[in-house]
Amino acid sequence: MERHIQILLNRLSFASITIATVTLIFLFLQTPKTCVPITSNPKPHHKFPKSTCDFSHRSLTSIDKKNKKLWSSKDWIKKVNSFSSLFHDLQTLNHLNNRSRALCVSAGAGHEVMAMKQIGLKDVTGVELVDSPPLVSRADPHNLPFFDGVFDLGFSAQFDRALFPRRYAEEMERTVRAGGACVVAVEACGDVEVKEVASLFRKSRFVRADNFTLIGSKMTRIILRVANSS
Ligand SMILES: *[C@@H]1O[C@H](CO)[C@@H](O)[C@H](O)[C@H]1NC(C)=O
Ligand SMILES: *[C@@H]1O[C@H](CO)[C@@H](O)[C@H](O)[C@H]1NC(C)=O
Repeated sequence: MERHIQILLNRLSFASITIATVTLIFLFLQTPKTCVPITSNPKPHHKFPKSTCDFSHRSLTSIDKKNKKLWSSKDWIKKVNSFSSLFHDLQTLNHLNNRSRALCVSAGAGHEVMAMKQIGLKDVTGVELVDSPPLVSRADPHNLPFFDGVFDLGFSAQFDRALFPRRYAEEMERTVRAGGACVVAVEACGDVEVKEVASLFRKSRFVRADNFTLIGSKMTRIILRVANSS
């Protein structure tokens, strides 16, 4: 008697496992009904996304939308214009032209990247610990993912906030070619601090330092020429 029950139970459990497996496979193969296929006729109010399960499309749209909003804000435009006049000066001083390959380190949301593009540079790279596509990609300023000497100009407006300033300076110098320029904008400071900053760029020659205003804050711009990129 007990043996019969055992056999019956075994059969029952085998049957339920089979049913469960078949159900699972069926569920996997089925397209969920909530996904409207791309090929179906779009209803007039269906502007986007293409299907209710098309997440990638939706996130791209939202980045574009977010950027449009950000880039048209007053603060953004003011800051970009502020950087533009700083870079325009560098053009006048012959440290920069339209063909320069420029690197912006610690570029934040990308104001300086946009400013460089605005004044006519075609080849601008912006990096920051957190990326902000499409202007800024992710990279550690203390360990830049670029070969030696690939840029004509390295720029940072965040040098005075670097965790390891010497390492940060070394990486800027390494990626800028010999004869290229490293330019850092730091909080307004006097000769002593300027010398201190310049001394961190051990492979570069100090060119000049001057004060300028970046969206209302006084800052000092320090320009160095890279002597030897090896
Ligand atoms: C650089 O680009 C700007 C903007 O596109 C343009 O107005 C300017 O004439 C260019 N300068 C040179 C030297 O090509
Ligand atoms: C820049 O500003 C700092 C602080 O306000 C001042 O000490 C320094 O002399 C100024 N440098 C120049 C070149 O004007």
